[in-house]
Amino acid sequence: MKSRSPAAGELLGLQPNGSPIAGPRRHVLDLDDFTTSEIRNVLESAKGMSEVLGRDIKKVPALRGRVIVTLFYEASTRTRISFEEAGKVLSADVINMSSSGSSTEKGESLLNTGLTIQAMGVDVIVIRHPHSGAPYLLARCLDRVGIINAGDGIHAHPTQALLDLYTVNEKFGTLEGLKLVIVGDVMHSRVARSNIWGFARMGARVVLCGPSTLLPLDMLQGREKLGHDHPLASVEVDTDLDRAIEGADIVMALRLQSERQNAGFLPSLREYIRRWQVNDARLGRARDGALVMHPGPMNEGIEISSSIAHGDRAVIEQQVTNGVAVRMALLYHLSGVQPSAPELGDTVKDHSDGR
Ligand code: MLT
Repeated sequence: MKSRSPAAGELLGLQPNGSPIAGPRRHVLDLDDFTTSEIRNVLESAKGMSEVLGRDIKKVPALRGRVIVTLFYEASTRTRISFEEAGKVLSADVINMSSSGSSTEKGESLLNTGLTIQAMGVDVIVIRHPHSGAPYLLARCLDRVGIINAGDGIHAHPTQALLDLYTVNEKFGTLEGLKLVIVGDVMHSRVARSNIWGFARMGARVVLCGPSTLLPLDMLQGREKLGHDHPLASVEVDTDLDRAIEGADIVMALRLQSERQNAGFLPSLREYIRRWQVNDARLGRARDGALVMHPGPMNEGIEISSSIAHGDRAVIEQQVTNGVAVRMALLYHLSGVQPSAPELGDTVKDHSDGR
């Protein structure tokens, strides 16, 4: 079996100077290798896809004859269903596979499972895995399948970040200059990591907030080395939510990822709620019209109060709705269909305009 062997930097999608590598995309592994114009392209395509989703009959033949496998080694509601719906609306054949009930239970390795799926002529594998880096292994070793990372360990969740960018851009008409506060268990959140890349790259001001034990402080320590024009060099950290939330345009609450924490990171849940819960009083300090986001699943009453979670500032359901459109756009691009495919009319356009 032929296998690609790219340099380590290429796998990270980065040139030696840290800039993303341009060129046709085969995989979606994280947002660190997305240029601003590529992100804009995805958001623009997703707009066309959401028009398809608004039709009475939500079905276009764009991916007829393509096969997508969702390979989930971890629980999921939103991401899994969203990918399945996205593929089906585009007329792809979507096959769902989870580790339980598969040959994984008989000891088959991820690589051999991937090679087996590839041998069946599948076009795209959407993978979720508890180990950071698992999608990269498949991307490196499979040469005829596109890989989409649907969440790997604490590392990345790029499609969630793209749907978050889409949701904010839809509300504000821009991403540049907005203040985003990401609050909670940033340390164990793959959603936060991908959003940091995406929002920082698009010119937003990103502030990370939470108990210092749940913040990736190494990110700040590495700042000197990153250089001023690195997208992550501008990311701020503040352990005081009352201060961080001042003037925020977007507040993104994160779940405490107890399944990924292997040490006592919190003094007590009560203390956590008192200092870091997104609630009415705190949101009063944000900008008028500030949005509240949450990737789900929520633990209402812990990281977010019920009144905020179901209040008029929350765009949590819109995030879910937009996730289908964004994943349609990604599947479409990765399946190698020409942007001018007649089946979609002009719903998918190429908006490349350099970086
Ligand atoms: C994830 O899979 O990372 C979720 O979307 C967020 C979470 O589990 O808290």
